[in-house]
Amino acid sequence: MEKFHVFGQFVRKPAAVGAVAESSRALAELITEAADLRHASVVVEFGPGTGAFTEVILRKIGPDAVFFAIEANESFAAATRKRCPGAVVFHDSATSVRQHLEASGRQSCDCIVSGLPFASFTPALQDEILAAVVDVLKPGGRFVTFAHLGGAFWPRGRRFRRRLEAEFPDVTVTPTVWSNLPPAFVYRAIR
Ligand SMILES: C[S@@+](CC[C@H](N)C(=O)[O-])C[C@H]1O[C@@H](n2cnc3c(N)ncnc32)[C@H](O)[C@@H]1O
Repeated sequence: MEKFHVFGQFVRKPAAVGAVAESSRALAELITEAADLRHASVVVEFGPGTGAFTEVILRKIGPDAVFFAIEANESFAAATRKRCPGAVVFHDSATSVRQHLEASGRQSCDCIVSGLPFASFTPALQDEILAAVVDVLKPGGRFVTFAHLGGAFWPRGRRFRRRLEAEFPDVTVTPTVWSNLPPAFVYRAIR
């Protein structure tokens, strides 16, 4: 069901959705481990889609952690709220993260878990979102974002990696999850 939802939205807005199916449980486990959620008091997710990462984030964060997700597609925001009733999901762009943090009484966050398709974003949007991340992430905070193996080698995928490495002193790459459709890995950037 969720796979068809993602595919249907991909056909309408391929660059914004950036995937034909939701991420696998294996990728959700990997990206949430890379974020080190147990040691985070404020956690934000970008682009939850149908909630594949969200349900794992909710399981792994501490009981007192503040968590919300920001999803630009209204249909996906509704799907994540339905799948994860404990999650606060804002229908908005990730570029508005500061505004949502401040509305929840915070100035910064410990972790951002991103499901955004950076390799299909324009350079201007890549830069705008990275600037918003750097603006709100605490020193030592983690920004984790996945890349499909093919997309990582597209010109915009390679550009995104260069920009990530320019903004963050410490960027590492996880092993590839070959069972994901398509195979994917995670960038872990520490502020
Ligand atoms: C590749 S899908 C990933 C969905 C989910 N995280 C997963 O892995 O199955 C990308 C998601 O990012 C959302 N998105 C795209 N641009 C966005 C933006 N500027 N702000 C917030 N969400 C955005 C899309 O609507 C879509 O839900």
